[in-house]
This record gives sequence, C-alpha cells and structure tokens, in this order.
Amino acid sequence: MNAPLQDYTVSKSIASAQALLSVDNVSLEYRTPQRVVRATHQVSFEIDPADRFVLLGPSGCGKSTLLKAAAGFIQPVEGEIRLQGQRVDAPGPDRIVVFQEFDQLPPWKTVKQNVMFPLLASKTLKGREAEERALHYLEKVGLAAFADAYPHTLSGGMKARVAIARALAMQPKILLMDEPFAALDALTRRKMQEELLLLWEEVRFTLLFVTHSIEEALVVGNRILLLSPHPGRVRAEVHSHQYDLHSLGGVAFQESARRIHRLLFDEGDAANAEHELDFADIRIAY
Ligand SMILES: Nc1ncnc2c1ncn2[C@@H]1O[C@H](COP(=O)(O)OP(=O)(O)OP(=O)(O)O)[C@@H](O)[C@H]1O
Ligand SMILES: [Mg+2]
Repeated sequence: MNAPLQDYTVSKSIASAQALLSVDNVSLEYRTPQRVVRATHQVSFEIDPADRFVLLGPSGCGKSTLLKAAAGFIQPVEGEIRLQGQRVDAPGPDRIVVFQEFDQLPPWKTVKQNVMFPLLASKTLKGREAEERALHYLEKVGLAAFADAYPHTLSGGMKARVAIARALAMQPKILLMDEPFAALDALTRRKMQEELLLLWEEVRFTLLFVTHSIEEALVVGNRILLLSPHPGRVRAEVHSHQYDLHSLGGVAFQESARRIHRLLFDEGDAANAEHELDFADIRIAY
C-alpha cells in the first residue's frame, strides 16, 4: 500500500536537506477589488538538481500561478518557496521562465540579440562574452545559421528554440517552462519534446515544466505532480523516468496515462482504486 504523500514529503525533506527548490505548504491567491481567488491550496513538493519536474493538472488548477511564484513574481499567502534554502521573494536571473507565447521575442532584435539581451540587461556578461554565450546556445538548439534572422522570419518551432536558447544562456539554477509547446502543431510539438530531452541529456539543467497534457508530462518529466481542479491541491506524485518519446503508444505507457487520468479526474475512490494497481512509483495524497 502506498504511504500518504504527506509522510513521503516529510521523510523526503529529511533525506534531501538540500533540495534545489522547495515548495512548502504554499497557498497562492489573486486579490481583485471584488473578490479573492485562491489558485492553489497548501501545495508542497521538492525539486532536486537535474530533475525534470512536471506540474500536471486541469485548466485553472494553478499551474501557471505556481510557476510565477517559483519565479518570484507572486508571493504565497501561506507557506514558503526556497531556492537552495533561500526564501524566494523576488525574480532573479537564477530562475528563468519560458512562456507559451513565442511572441515574447522582441521583433526588432535579431535572434542573436534576443538571446544576448537578458545576459546584458542582468549584467551577467558584457558584449563579446554575451555574444559568444548566445552563439553557443543557439548552436545547441540548432539555430546557429539563423543568428542574424529576425523572429518574424522563423517558424513557431524555431521561435520556441530561440526562447529555450535565451533561457539556457542565462545558465539558471532552474528553468521554468509554462506550456512552452502548446501553441505548436502536433508534429512540431513532438519534435520539440525530443529536442528538449536531448538538450537535457547534454546540459543536465533542472526543469520545472507545466502542462495539461498527460502524454507530454510522461514524455518530458522524470517526476510528475498531479494537481486537483481549482484550487489546485496535490493529488499525487508519480515517477515517470522510465518513459520517453519511444514509449509513446506502448502498453505500459498507455496504462500509466490512464491511471494518471483516473487520479486527476475521478473523484472519491480514485486513491483507493490505485492501490490495487501496480504503478511503478506513486504516492497518493489524501
Ligand atoms: N490575474 C488574475 N486575477 C485573478 N484571478 C486569476 C488571475 N490569474 C489566474 N487567476 C485564477 O487563478 C486560478 C489559477 O489560474 P492559473 O492560470 O494558474 O491556472 P492554470 O493551471 O495555469 O490553467 P491553464 O492550464 O488554463 O493555463 C484560475 O481560477 C484563474 O481564474
Ligand atoms: Mg496556465
């Protein structure tokens, strides 16, 4: 029988005192003049170095809000977020966000200038060094030949690669990605997932990745946090390191996807039902 997630979280935080990112009992709210919207309720998880940690849940469950909080744009009303033990209370160059919209690239800057911009603006590097770093990461995402092109001349997948190169060039402690491939067609999306995994094999960055696609979560992640519908609470954490793009369509992969679907959407007895099934590694939150 699976131990409740709460016990798991406690024992894990003792075992790995130095998690890279700790989200500890975090509730997040939006306050408008009319009302208060609670986006997440007492969410806890820990990300270790080189994890590909996925937040998965239905629309409106607070995934983007959690990402913004990890980035330091929003402060919790309860609980705490820590990066290497330091409380996160503002944005910083050690946490870079890649958003869904690729129109985040200023159109008047070339690809190379786009990648250089955060390095220069944050005073991480100066002229020549920033240029070398930018070219290095453009090379990694296969866009060295497009360094002098302008964003409007690129396809959606290429813009996605520029956004990833720009983020990785900052060499952040953690890369935060909010549905980065959602705007792409199915084939390009699959290609980008593959490229992201290849890039991870090479660079071994730490990733916090948001999606509402179960399939994408299983392919991209090594750990998946399942969140309930609004307001988001932790339903379970699933280990998914055994899957990659080659697993798509396989029996085990499909069965895992179905189990995650049940955990996400079945009310009531979902947790009990899962006890009878044999998920590779799963912790259910009650
Ligand atoms: N600026 C805002 N002001 C008020 N409420 C907001 C604001 N942004 C988000 N919310 C609310 O907070 C909740 C969580 O929103 P969030 O964008 O984090 O969800 P999400 O899981 O990322 O959804 P999706 O999968 O659709 O992107 C929702 O109920 C949403 O309506
Ligand atoms: Mg979102």
